[in-house]
Amino acid sequence: LFDQLEHWQWEASLAPKVAGTRNMHEVLPTDMDFFVVLSSVAGVTGRPAQVNYTAACAFHDAFMHYRRSRGQPGFAIDVGVVGDAGFVSESPAVFATMKRQGFPFISVAELLATLDYVLTARGLECQAVLGLVPDAGVKEPDRFEQRHISHLVQDSARFAGAELDDNSGSGSDHIGKIGRANAVEEAVEAVGAAVLDELSKLIIMPVDQILLHRTLDSYGVDSLVVVELRNWVVAMLAADISILVIRESRRIDNLIQLVAS
Ligand SMILES: NC(=O)c1ccc[n+]([C@@H]2O[C@H](COP(=O)([O-])OP(=O)(O)OC[C@H]3O[C@@H](n4cnc5c(N)ncnc54)[C@H](OP(=O)(O)O)[C@@H]3O)[C@@H](O)[C@H]2O)c1
Repeated sequence: LFDQLEHWQWEASLAPKVAGTRNMHEVLPTDMDFFVVLSSVAGVTGRPAQVNYTAACAFHDAFMHYRRSRGQPGFAIDVGVVGDAGFVSESPAVFATMKRQGFPFISVAELLATLDYVLTARGLECQAVLGLVPDAGVKEPDRFEQRHISHLVQDSARFAGAELDDNSGSGSDHIGKIGRANAVEEAVEAVGAAVLDELSKLIIMPVDQILLHRTLDSYGVDSLVVVELRNWVVAMLAADISILVIRESRRIDNLIQLVAS
């Protein structure tokens, strides 16, 4: 989230895409055959947990429009989540989050095919968005309700009546126990079990391997996962706990106590 970003985090994320692209633009000859940047679908949809990355991608897109307006080649491929190579495929927690949030995955082969097309395209377009529309049967209410992208989804009938492919009922056994608890200790225990259950799904690790005295950081939990955990805690446990508090919890059992209280 923007107000929780350190300045260095903002700079580090923008530098390769903004300074890097501008450097190329200034140093390379003006009559290049092609000038292609790998941006992200995040620059189109927005992503609250990655505003620095999102801004950098939006810059990429805008800069390619700028180059084309000057009669220079320029094309931004707004890459969706790549499942078989690159950062997401190498980060299990991020991979799992993207899956759970219903992002469609694309393959390297699809990316290369798009690149092939872009290198030879002579049309006016300068931006292709890959992996925005979800797979058939997966409903994405939040993203597609945003006005700036809803018009991109023309086949809206495809989503009508589609089942929400998430685990919104996850942890319901434990949650039922919270309601039935006769003592505070019993409720805390059920809250703990529910939180651990959810965490184990988010980081793809069996519950019995998550140690309560350790921090979320030590399990590679990043800001995307924290946002998802927080949304789940608010929705399922009705505990309005901030992202910052979750991030700064020194131990997982402290976090559970806080949610329970
Ligand atoms: N993977 C995805 O699912 C996905 C989705 C959407 C968009 N994209 C876009 O696709 C591109 C490649 O992503 P990836 O997943 O392949 O990333 P990656 O595996 O992390 O590779 C990033 C590459 O960028 C280089 N790099 C990073 N910071 C740099 C800096 N400050 N200056 C110069 N080079 C720098 C790295 O160099 P070193 O190897 O030397 O560190 C590495 O070669 C990115 O532009 C990303 O925004 C990827």
